[in-house]
Amino acid sequence: MTNPTNSRSQWGSSIGFLLAAIGSAVGLGNIWRFPYVAYENGGGAFLIPYVCALVTAGIPILMLEFALGHKKEASAPKAFFMIDSKWEWLGWWSVLFVMFGILAYYIVVIGWCFNYLIFSFTLEWGADPNTFFFDTFLNSSGNVWELRGLNLEIAASVVLVWFINWLITYRGIKKGIERAVKFMMPLLFFITAVIILWSLFLKGAADGIRLYVTPDFAKIMDLNVWVAAYGQIFFSLSLGFGIMIAYASYLPKTANIFKSSIIVACTNSAYEVFAGVGVFSILGYMALQQGVPIQQTVKSGIGLAFVAYPQAISMLPFGRLFGLLFFFLLMIAGITSSISIMEAFASAAMDKFGLSRKPIITTSSIIGFMISLVFTTHAGLYWLDIVDHFLNHYGLLTVGVIEAFIIGWLYRTEKLKSHIVSQLGLSGVGHKIFRYIVLQAWKYCIKFITPVALSIAIINSLMSEFSKPYSGYPISGILILGVGWLLVTHMLAFGFSGLPWRTPDKSRM
Ligand code: ALA
Repeated sequence: MTNPTNSRSQWGSSIGFLLAAIGSAVGLGNIWRFPYVAYENGGGAFLIPYVCALVTAGIPILMLEFALGHKKEASAPKAFFMIDSKWEWLGWWSVLFVMFGILAYYIVVIGWCFNYLIFSFTLEWGADPNTFFFDTFLNSSGNVWELRGLNLEIAASVVLVWFINWLITYRGIKKGIERAVKFMMPLLFFITAVIILWSLFLKGAADGIRLYVTPDFAKIMDLNVWVAAYGQIFFSLSLGFGIMIAYASYLPKTANIFKSSIIVACTNSAYEVFAGVGVFSILGYMALQQGVPIQQTVKSGIGLAFVAYPQAISMLPFGRLFGLLFFFLLMIAGITSSISIMEAFASAAMDKFGLSRKPIITTSSIIGFMISLVFTTHAGLYWLDIVDHFLNHYGLLTVGVIEAFIIGWLYRTEKLKSHIVSQLGLSGVGHKIFRYIVLQAWKYCIKFITPVALSIAIINSLMSEFSKPYSGYPISGILILGVGWLLVTHMLAFGFSGLPWRTPDKSRM
């Protein structure tokens, strides 16, 4: 599959590309975020806004990013530069705030998973996993600005996770990322299946699943529920990260973008819906053992993985083995996503500065590691929470709106549409009609539905920001960490886009 006329790296096989893209999408967001978001926002009824978000924004933006990277054979900044040089900043902004924001804390959470994997051997969290997590393990200070030095146990795990990321991405697309995902993704699916089956056979599992899927149709009248669905789809499918543009740029000319988008989006969504079944089975079991209502055992995000699960692990027969499998699964899911973030940034820097992969990967890993260290301080949890909220709610969705605007209104969707069609290879009247309908729908989504839906989501979040500070944090924390992170990376993006290209491949610009 190597193209001798093009020096750009290529995937060794289409399955390698698909596994890498699915690996990027399936991450911590699928296992700990989706089940809680779904439960909080109407249970079974959440599937209605969720599927709408998938169809009107998830698949269209994924197809846009794949088609753009593939057609231009370029990373995000270069692809936007090739459309119009004044949009290069958008590509830089996304890869910068994702690499030096989202990745920096994402790796810390993978590090916690490693710590908890070790703790599983001795059930270190004891009888009160909540106090253990917040007071003993994180030893959180009471204030955003009270850092109180590094938490060395966590910092050591962060070194390990950054090293694994560096090792994989340093070796390149085919020998590094593709080889890693070909090993890690089947393992991820296997361990997930074991955990879900194990959970399904526990007493109380059915009650947990019932709570998870019971539809609360009143909720879908609430705009916040729709915003939650769009936010989940964006984070979960790694959209607006610059990843899917970079990954598709390493595909051979003949790749089928349409089919790949559908496969990646559907696998990711199926994975998170099933992960929810496993999570709620465990919660059902735990509620039965403790004799409390299941609602009391349900925890969000961090609380689910590091408080509720450890509690269940302590109760389960062979709980230690379950704990090892669960935290190992989180680590694999996290690493296959974190390497994709590194790659999005590295491919941008390679395109722009004409440097080889190795110095870029090493330098950006060192900088990223140093930023990660602030999340290992005793105020790290607050920093993580604020940065995560602002980068996801505003950064990713804003990138999505502008991408849809550029492609829908400036570049013209027709050009990308004909690129997607050229690889479809469908023949026969039925196929042609199907192709016509789907691609017309895609075009209207990109031009109208996606930008409008995402803009409503952003405005709605902004309004709640002004009514009360996020999670009661001090305004200084919100402005410096949340808004500041976005502004500083935005300024850097403008700075980068002002620099000259060292690899101006005019034939492709
Ligand atoms: N898509 C990745 C996740 O869900 C970032 O965690």
